[in-house]
Amino acid sequence: MKNFTFYNPTRLVFGKGSIARLGREIPASVSRIMVTFGGGSVRRNGVYEQVIEALKGRDVVEFWGIEPNPAVETLRKAVALGKEKGVDFLLAVGGGSVIDGTKLIAAGLKSERDLWDLVLSRRVTDTVPMGTVLTLPATGSEMNNGAVISRTETHEKLDFHCSYPVFSILDPEVTFSLPARQVACGLADTFVHIMEQYMTTPRQSRIMDEWAEGLLRTVIEIAPKIQADPKNYDLMADFMLSATMGLNGFITMGVTEDWVTHMIGHEITALNGITHGATLAMVLPGTLRVLREQKGDKLLQYGERVWGIRDGSREERIDRAIEKTEGFFRALGLSTRLGEEHVGEETIAEIERRFNERGYALGEAGNVTGAVARKILECCK
Ligand code: NZQ
Ligand code: ZN
Repeated sequence: MKNFTFYNPTRLVFGKGSIARLGREIPASVSRIMVTFGGGSVRRNGVYEQVIEALKGRDVVEFWGIEPNPAVETLRKAVALGKEKGVDFLLAVGGGSVIDGTKLIAAGLKSERDLWDLVLSRRVTDTVPMGTVLTLPATGSEMNNGAVISRTETHEKLDFHCSYPVFSILDPEVTFSLPARQVACGLADTFVHIMEQYMTTPRQSRIMDEWAEGLLRTVIEIAPKIQADPKNYDLMADFMLSATMGLNGFITMGVTEDWVTHMIGHEITALNGITHGATLAMVLPGTLRVLREQKGDKLLQYGERVWGIRDGSREERIDRAIEKTEGFFRALGLSTRLGEEHVGEETIAEIERRFNERGYALGEAGNVTGAVARKILECCK
C-alpha cells in the first residue's frame, strides 16, 4: 500500500425530503447566495420550487444555463454576475455539469485571472464556499474536488482540482424524472470510475479491492432493475450512493489509479459532443484489451470476484471478463464501438496528436502515450 493522506470535508445529507434542510446547511453569516442551474429540468420536476421554498428569507441571485459539459464561455458570465452582486456562497442545483461549472465559478469569484487560465493551472485553492443539490447520480462531483470544463471555441475539455462542496444534498426522489439515456450514462460513468481506481496493480490493498468490488457488484445488480423500475426509491438510493462512493476518494486510499479511459473519453466528447458516460462505454473495453497483459492478474481477480468467472485457462478467463464488461454496457443500451457513434479516423488522429503534444504518459504504469491511445481507439472501432 502506498502512503496517503485522506481528506473529504463534504457533509452528505441523504434522503427523501432533504432539500428542506438547505436553509440550515448554509451558514447564517452568508449575505448573498448565487444558485446555479442547468437548462431547466429542475423547473419540470419540482426541484426548483423545493429549493426556493427552503431558501425563503435568504438573499438569492439565480444563474441559469450551465450546459452539459459546462463551457468556460458560459461560466465567465456567471462570474461577472457574481462579482457584480457581491455573492459570498454558491449553491449548485443539477448534475455533474452544473456542479463542475459552479466549482470554477467559485474559483473565478476569488480571482482576477481568466477562467481558462485557472483550469490550465490544474489546482486552485482560493474559492468561495459552495453546496450542492444533486439531481443526477454519475460523476461524484458532489463529494470530490474535481471539475471538468469545456472550451467550445477550441473543442477542448480539461479537468482541474479545486475545493470540495461544503455539503451536498442527495434526495433519490429527484432522479425519478431522469431520461432513460441519462440513467444509462450515469450507471456507465459510475462503473468506469470504480474501474479506473481498481483495474490497476493487484495486491495493493485488500480493503480497497473489496470496497471497489462491492460497489461494482452493486451497480451490476441494480442496473437492470433500475431499467425495469426507474422510480423505485431504494434502487435509486443505492445508485446515488454508489455514484458518490465511486469517486469521493474512499476507494483510492493507498492504491494506484488509471484514468486512461476518461482522458480519451474527454477528448471524444470535446471533438464529437458525445455524452460523457457514453464515451466511456466505447473506450473501456478497448483499454482492457490493449493493456490485458499489464492488467492480467487484476482482470482475473475481477472476473472471479465480480462476474463469477472461475473456469477456463487464464487467457479465456480474461477474455470473458472483458466480454462481460462490454456486455454490461450493451445491456444498458449504450454503443460499445466508435463506428456506431460515427467516431472515425479524424478523431483518432487528433487524440493521438493531442496526447503527444501534451507529453502524456498516462495510466498506472505511466505508459499510455499518443501511440497507445491510438491502439486503444483502433481496438474500439
Ligand atoms: O441542464 P438540465 O436541464 O438540468 O438537464 C440535465 C442535462 O441535460 C439533465 N438532468 C439532470 N438532472 C436531471 C435531468 N433531467 C431530468 N431530471 C433530472 N433529475 O441531464 C443532462 C445531463 O446533465 P449533466 O450534468 O451534464 O450530466 P452528468 O451528471 O453526467 O455530468 C457530466 C459532466 O461531469 C463531468 C463530465 O465530464 C461532464 O462534463 N465529470 C465530472 C467529474 C467530477 N467532477 O469528478 C468526473 C466525471 O468523470 C466526469 O468527467
Ligand atoms: Zn466519469
